[in-house]
Amino acid sequence: MKTINRQRFDFSTLGRSVARGATALAVVLAAAGAAQAQNQDALKLYQRGLAATCANCHGTDGQGVVGTGMPIINHLSSAELLKKMTDYKSGAVTGTIMHQLAKGYTDEQLQTIASVLGKK
Ligand code: HEC
Repeated sequence: MKTINRQRFDFSTLGRSVARGATALAVVLAAAGAAQAQNQDALKLYQRGLAATCANCHGTDGQGVVGTGMPIINHLSSAELLKKMTDYKSGAVTGTIMHQLAKGYTDEQLQTIASVLGKK
């Protein structure tokens, strides 16, 4: 005679492993969230850092530096800033320095700078 060995499934064990899985998932998600927040901070820092390369001459956030006679650029919108920078870069507009400086940035970097410095 054949005996059927029906193994009983222990649901309490399943419950525990589901709970363990959920905890592990929560830990992973929390870590991913923290990493994403850190990436956002790093990205913001990079963007602010790029825009800060203009501050020596144009002052913090383009507000100008008293007594230097450098153009104040904080009244320009992002689109206006980007247009001026790309005109300097292409050589359509020249100056004493900006047409040279602008060539040092990629188009993507100029977009970033314009979006950070542009009048909100
Ligand atoms: C070494 C000094 C210096 C730095 C650094 C500098 N600029 Fe300039 N910028 C000038 C000068 C000087 C002018 C006037 C045009 C010329 O002579 O090149 C000018 C002009 C401009 C103008 C035109 C303003 C107008 O009203 O037409 C814009 C826009 C501008 N700069 C943006 C920037 C941005 C954005 C950065 C950073 C990526 C930057 N500049 C970095 C010196 C500087």
